Amino acid sequence: MALLVFFVAFVLAAAVPAIGQEGFLSIDCGRDATSSGYTDAVGIFYFPDGPYVDSGENQQVLAKYVSRTLSRTSYTLRSFPTGGRNCYSLPTNSGAKYLVRLGFFYGNYDGKNSSSTLQFDLYLGVNYWDTMYAYLDNVYEAVFVAWASWAPVCFINTGAGTPFVSTVELRLLGTELYGNDIVTASQSMRMHMRRDMGPTNVYVTQYPHDPYDRFWWQINDPSWANLSTTSTIQTESKFKVPSTVLQKAIMPTGNNTVLSIMTWQDTTEREYAVFRHFADFQNREPRQFDVYFDVNLAKEAFRPSYLTASYVYTSSWFKATDGNYNITLAATNVSMLQPMLNALEIYSLITHHSTTTFFKDFDAIMAIKFEYGVKKNWMGDPCFPKEYAWDGVKCRNTSGNNARIVSLDLSNSNLRGVISDNFTSLTALENL
Ligand SMILES: *[C@@H]1O[C@H](CO)[C@@H](O)[C@H](O)[C@H]1NC(C)=O
Ligand SMILES: *[C@@H]1O[C@H](CO)[C@@H](O)[C@H](O)[C@H]1NC(C)=O
Ligand SMILES: *[C@@H]1O[C@H](CO)[C@@H](O)[C@H](O)[C@H]1NC(C)=O
Ligand SMILES: *[C@@H]1O[C@H](CO)[C@@H](O)[C@H](O)[C@H]1NC(C)=O
Ligand SMILES: *[C@@H]1O[C@H](CO)[C@@H](O)[C@H](O)[C@H]1NC(C)=O
Ligand SMILES: *[C@@H]1O[C@H](CO)[C@@H](O)[C@H](O)[C@H]1NC(C)=O
Ligand SMILES: *[C@@H]1O[C@H](CO)[C@@H](O)[C@H](O)[C@H]1NC(C)=O
Repeated sequence: MALLVFFVAFVLAAAVPAIGQEGFLSIDCGRDATSSGYTDAVGIFYFPDGPYVDSGENQQVLAKYVSRTLSRTSYTLRSFPTGGRNCYSLPTNSGAKYLVRLGFFYGNYDGKNSSSTLQFDLYLGVNYWDTMYAYLDNVYEAVFVAWASWAPVCFINTGAGTPFVSTVELRLLGTELYGNDIVTASQSMRMHMRRDMGPTNVYVTQYPHDPYDRFWWQINDPSWANLSTTSTIQTESKFKVPSTVLQKAIMPTGNNTVLSIMTWQDTTEREYAVFRHFADFQNREPRQFDVYFDVNLAKEAFRPSYLTASYVYTSSWFKATDGNYNITLAATNVSMLQPMLNALEIYSLITHHSTTTFFKDFDAIMAIKFEYGVKKNWMGDPCFPKEYAWDGVKCRNTSGNNARIVSLDLSNSNLRGVISDNFTSLTALENL
């Protein structure tokens, strides 16, 4: 056991330093645990997933999918043929804000040709995050505030095939990023889309242009006019959109004074927030426009700053009653220039309605799990949801949507040696 603990500690420590990548944890799932990691094309170091997951099987995509265009992180994956819930545990600093990204590439690893029907649910701890559909090479992202020393990322089998995952990435965001009103300890957000407006010669702009390794996917449309500058854009601290992303923008074509940016439909209960990023680089005449999210005026008579980043958002979540969403910019009557947009982010709310295990109990039982090498079904939240509660762990609800661990039965866990001080951190424990 001591060896295992040492191994875990070593890998976690090694995950931190690599120059320029402090706060990154990049995991290539399904990679042989005894292999070393590697540096990918943009310079990010990927580790095998062994220390972060106890269950599942290593798999490889079919050889015909392995090519220079497929990211190396997608060559292998971890599948979860057994168990209703399987989770990775990612090391976090309680109270810090993170971006977590999951990559999925099915690559017919099981020969079942099931990409058109395969789907399963993703949970961030006990909270529903998204449903993963395998018919695309998919990326799912969320931003959350860590509530304990570990953040579980879970895959729930909903009966539509075997869950799997190719890549798990964690990026520490500064506390100021995305503010303190939109992402809090009691609400996280799911990325719906993040776009770099206008054509670029790369499909995605990421690290090192974005120090947080956010993905900015390019989007262009023949109904938009393209603008660009080579001047550096002064960034701001709330969204820190990279200068390279802001150096391009779109405008309406012709003399149109309204820029229709995006429409989408979602008839689920999801609520949305939209972050629009601007930087002007035509300082000739006044540019002024109203910024709409559906019929809601997010900002009246907005003037983007010259060669300096600015943004428009409303710090409340919005659900359209008819499920139709659109984002529109409309020039005011004093504007001599047309409206413009440089970058766009759309998120939906991940609500935290579910009861969770009290974070100190969670940290303590994770320490016990690692110290004694307990595996069983010890992954995800120890108490919730009830059908996946950890074997041998009994919990009791307390106020404030928290549960305490009140009883621990390790009689089937082959424990040897002295009783660890880690047990004393379970301060509500009545039975051991
Ligand atoms: C999957 O598709 C391939 C090619 O279409 C076919 O040869 C193979 O039999 C299919 N396998 C299954 C399990 O359906
Ligand atoms: C903007 O660039 C894209 C990609 O090159 C192109 O498809 C589009 O037609 C351009 N828009 C205009 C108005 O030229
Ligand atoms: C745009 O407006 C100007 C000035 O009114 C006019 O000369 C020009 O023909 C218009 N262009 C288009 C494409 O309508
Ligand atoms: C945007 O949504 C509003 C409210 O549903 C609607 O009135 C408007 O026509 C829509 N605009 C576009 C361009 O779809
Ligand atoms: C411009 O719009 C403002 C606000 O809608 C209005 O009060 C004003 O009369 C308009 N001016 C002209 C010249 O149309
Ligand atoms: C404890 O909380 C869970 C989740 O909210 C709930 O399902 C369960 O009924 C609660 N148990 C008690 C005894 O209140
Ligand atoms: C608690 O467990 C951790 C392993 O996660 C171990 O490193 C530590 O020494 C343990 N602490 C005590 C006091 O036993």
